[in-house]
Amino acid sequence: MRITVIGSGYVGLVTGACLAEYGNQVVCLDLDAEKVAQLQQGNVHIYEPGLEELIRRNMQAGRLHFTADIGASVAHGTIQFIAVGTPADEDGSADLQYVLAAASNIGRYLNEYKVIVNKSTVPVGTADLVKQAVQAQLDLRQQRSSFSVVSNPEFLKEGAAVDDFMRPDRIVIGTEDETAKDLMQAIYAPLVRNHDRILSMDLRSAELTKYAANAMLATRISFMNELANLSEVLGADIELVRKGIGSDPRIGYHFLYPGVGYGGSCFPKDVQALQQTAMQFGEPLKILQAVHDVNRLQKNILLNKIMAHFGSDLRGLHFAVWGLAFKPDTDDLREAPSLVLIEGLLACGATVAAHDPVANDKAAQYFAGRAGLQFTELPMQALEQANALVIVTEWKAFRSPDFASIKKSLRSAIIFDGRNLYEPKRMKAEEISYYPIGREQILPHSSPALVVQSTAVAY
Ligand SMILES: NC(=O)c1ccc[n+]([C@@H]2O[C@H](COP(=O)([O-])OP(=O)(O)OC[C@H]3O[C@@H](n4cnc5c(N)ncnc54)[C@H](O)[C@@H]3O)[C@@H](O)[C@H]2O)c1
Repeated sequence: MRITVIGSGYVGLVTGACLAEYGNQVVCLDLDAEKVAQLQQGNVHIYEPGLEELIRRNMQAGRLHFTADIGASVAHGTIQFIAVGTPADEDGSADLQYVLAAASNIGRYLNEYKVIVNKSTVPVGTADLVKQAVQAQLDLRQQRSSFSVVSNPEFLKEGAAVDDFMRPDRIVIGTEDETAKDLMQAIYAPLVRNHDRILSMDLRSAELTKYAANAMLATRISFMNELANLSEVLGADIELVRKGIGSDPRIGYHFLYPGVGYGGSCFPKDVQALQQTAMQFGEPLKILQAVHDVNRLQKNILLNKIMAHFGSDLRGLHFAVWGLAFKPDTDDLREAPSLVLIEGLLACGATVAAHDPVANDKAAQYFAGRAGLQFTELPMQALEQANALVIVTEWKAFRSPDFASIKKSLRSAIIFDGRNLYEPKRMKAEEISYYPIGREQILPHSSPALVVQSTAVAY
């Protein structure tokens, strides 16, 4: 099939490369000429496991092309996937300017029947706006070509995006048009050969399904973070509680990990956008407001623990930070808790040496040469002369470190662990002061000045 994918970011690239892998002829459009030029050379600007190989292989096979030429991209695909960003607007609602610009561009060049597929996460009712944007351009040209608009939200996870796309739990197709539905089913049929996982529904239900999924997952995370904070003051261990409840098949283990709050390009903005839609229609979601508020506060939890230990004036102190990306196996820094932590440390007068296996460059760009902050190539380099190690992202490489070397490099043997990577018992045996989330805090025994007053810090 001839497919165009509009937007060559995380979702667009994965969609384009995976559909090319199944034998389709795919053209990916992006308006960022520099990005397109790099992609045409086989250089991929994002880190996603397996993606670069997949892109290069399909480019070599002649099935995957990149362009900045709108007319050519519209002419190419019978199916036009829109996979552009939908960032949060100032009030938290989804900013649809990129989606509607993509729709108008299709309308400017459309000369024959096309199926326009919203893969971007968009509020309920956006399909109607896309229809209007395309039709307005057709009317300007007095062009009578027909088209259908479909909602096909994407559920891939960054860090496992290629696998998720190739082996989807479900494919949601929202449309009232049988021709469009048949074409969409034909595209996805090779991905669901062993059993059908295509869910057909009306457009509005499809649009809401994506937000409902992300809101539910974010709710689980905020719930566990609140329970973790309660566990800490009660003297319970959230990791045991997590196993205790996760073993119930009605609950399950996924997305029950306490930590430093959710980040990334989806949950924060989607929770807010759904709330905005709900308010707009007079049905505000009270649970979701709490989910959002809890998350905002949880992003400060490591800084609060650090200040409870060292005091609020951190001048003269130096911290090692492990992990910058909002989660492992991605270089995505959007809404990452690490950004809040580092901003906070710098604002309190501390200096920081940070390491991430793949996100150092993006973080260096984000902080743009900020004084007091450096990035290290290797994790152990960040520790040199640091007063404490602070773990923000649970990369595999941080799970079994050499604690003797850590102690040797740090000025004082203290770890603030936002991901509960280590066992408090082990830390006690290693004589490391250890501050996990929702578990026993291993306080320093030697220096009374450093004893934490209370773990129930004001969040
Ligand atoms: N990243 C994820 O994990 C994920 C998962 C599921 C759904 N989504 C949703 O998918 C959408 C895209 O997310 P992303 O993370 O891939 O975004 P992204 O910011 O990584 O990529 C968007 C790309 O679109 C390009 N673009 C913008 N306007 C354009 C236009 N008119 N024509 C052509 N290209 C244009 C930009 O230059 C950019 O390269 C969002 O709505 C997001 O919520 C993202």
